Amino acid sequence: MKNLIVLFLLLPTIIYSQDNTIELPKDTVPSNILYDNDLLPAEFFKKNREALRQLLPNNSVAIFFTNPIRNRSNDVDYEYHQDPNFYYLTGLTEPHAVILIFKEEQRFNNFTTDEIIFLQDKDLKNEMWTGKRLGVKGVLTLGIKKAMKNTDFLSFESDLKDFDKIFTYNIREDIINHADNGDLFGLIQSFHLKSQKLTNTDKEELAYMMAKLREVKKAEEILLMRKAITMTCDAQIELMKALKPSMTEYQSEAIVEYVFKKNGAEYPGFPSIMGGGENSCIIHYTSNRKKLKGNDLLVSDIGAEYHGYTADVTRTIPVDGHFSEEEKIIYKLVLKAQQAGIDSSKAGNKFWEPHNAATKIITEGLLELGIIEKSYHVQRYFMHGTSHYLGLDVHDAGLYGTLQPGNVITVEPGIYIPEGSECDPKWWNIGIRIEDDILITEIGPENLSAKAPRTIEAIEALMKEDSSFE
Ligand code: GLY
Ligand code: MN
Repeated sequence: MKNLIVLFLLLPTIIYSQDNTIELPKDTVPSNILYDNDLLPAEFFKKNREALRQLLPNNSVAIFFTNPIRNRSNDVDYEYHQDPNFYYLTGLTEPHAVILIFKEEQRFNNFTTDEIIFLQDKDLKNEMWTGKRLGVKGVLTLGIKKAMKNTDFLSFESDLKDFDKIFTYNIREDIINHADNGDLFGLIQSFHLKSQKLTNTDKEELAYMMAKLREVKKAEEILLMRKAITMTCDAQIELMKALKPSMTEYQSEAIVEYVFKKNGAEYPGFPSIMGGGENSCIIHYTSNRKKLKGNDLLVSDIGAEYHGYTADVTRTIPVDGHFSEEEKIIYKLVLKAQQAGIDSSKAGNKFWEPHNAATKIITEGLLELGIIEKSYHVQRYFMHGTSHYLGLDVHDAGLYGTLQPGNVITVEPGIYIPEGSECDPKWWNIGIRIEDDILITEIGPENLSAKAPRTIEAIEALMKEDSSFE
């Protein structure tokens, strides 16, 4: 009896299953899968592979490699981030893997399959350093039909020359050898060995196929995007309440990233842009070291990443809580341009229509204010696009053709007038960008980031409220 109890206690508790046909002992499950209960289900990734198969021509195979681990310096690597296409097709967040997705079922010596992943297997000694791995058995819970160890890829029998097309994309040639033929370096070298004499490879088409799939978000993706965007709006709101002249750009950054993490974001989806005063005119400013002054404007361009999906919301905030007369004039112009952009974010419109609508308003406004003399001078002060797709990447994959329901795009016009510009100095150092995340629906645009105030009155009113960050 005593022995039976001991045996019972030693049996691992089986609690986890993404694909409910397979169950894994709790102590073998990677931590993200173990602790998060709103991850995308295996079915989502399976459907994505199926959708890709529909786009593949007959007798072809698509091959995807994971992102490399990048070294920061000496013993420290950058935090690992999966390649978005690999994630979209598998859900795997681990490095050192390759997946082959075949158009048709393939017959091998001992099995038939239309997909096979080669990945790092479980290794308890290594897992004590870098975390739990799914391994060859565990990866089947993500719904992938066949898995083998990454060290078996080199000797795997598939004859690539028999395919009409082998599609790859973005193979990295600048990565380090981790001294094991199953690491990413080894997988890529093995692929080159297998394909070096072949003329049936294609490195272009696959990126388009993936963009076609990824630009239309499914309901479960929109749910995660709503979470990422809501926590980003909450971060802008807390920043507006807390901001005051004694603060620095990095303290503003600390507040927004605190709100991200407090709400469960894994990390920011891109380095937070906190440009105050003259830095508001630097479009991708990220050093964030300046001490702010009362009459500075602060461009806060931020996005939380939640389960792979990132938000991207910009607000321009007066550090002392009040826009000056000149700032109000430029702010209203950018806001009017943004609203015109949002209004033309409609299914059936060309991707560039929101940009054209916003540019028209800004051009007319700057001419009227005497800030520019010729229409084409608008590029001096508004030098970027108004929109990009948003999703697993902040500048997400998409075809930039016609807008359709399920697209999520940003609408983010701006005006930046650095010191020394050819206009009245009263406009100098005004940099303003207003950015929202827009879902294209059958019945018009939905502003997913409407929660963060964007009118002058609403921002100034919110800035009067008490903050819990002191
Ligand atoms: N959030 C930065 C960008 O859209 O480029
Ligand atoms: Mn953006």
